Amino acid sequence: MPTLRLGDTAPDFQQDSTEGPISFHQWAGNDWVVLFSHPADFTPVCTTELGKTAALNGEFARRGVKPIAVSVDPVDSHHEWVGDINETQDTTVTFPILADADKKVATLYDMIHPNSLVNATVRSVFVIDPKKTVRLTLTYPASTGRNFDEILRVIDSLQLTDSHKVATPANWKDGDDVVILPSLQDPAELAQRFPKGFRAVRPYLRLTPQPNK
Ligand code: BEZ
Repeated sequence: MPTLRLGDTAPDFQQDSTEGPISFHQWAGNDWVVLFSHPADFTPVCTTELGKTAALNGEFARRGVKPIAVSVDPVDSHHEWVGDINETQDTTVTFPILADADKKVATLYDMIHPNSLVNATVRSVFVIDPKKTVRLTLTYPASTGRNFDEILRVIDSLQLTDSHKVATPANWKDGDDVVILPSLQDPAELAQRFPKGFRAVRPYLRLTPQPNK
């Protein structure tokens, strides 16, 4: 299976989950998706990651994003572990966890990196847009818990690009100035899209206040 790249169509699959069988594209519907793998149930870093994702439920929903987790453990184990996550992380897991014991999804999305971790998924993240296009890939080692605020930050950036033809500079956070896409050159369109104006530091580096603020 070739590695998935940005711009590729996220492969469809059917797999069991804590919310019953899932047909991925149908489940995703018209929402954005964060598909993320973790190595195993009942492990400490994973427990904090799933707890953090659950705690950010409102933030994902506000952006029209559905999280879905995957590991190669069976569904009974997932159900038992969810009880632990809810108790220890003081939250309620409301997103599905794929029970990928046959490694169908892990193989399709190249989530097993055997030279790093044998027989289990590493910490992969795929952000998938409503057209089922892969918009972000991240791969973290088993020993490093991911920063879910960063995942939300990238989604904010991607959604701004789609809606306003802007990109976001280094370390950008919601509310900071943004960069006008270099492809946008028509003066009339610039005036219409950016009524607050813009500052051309260089002809190719044009900053403007975040348009949706
Ligand atoms: C963890 O989630 O804590 C973990 C899992 C596999 C290897 C190392 C840490």
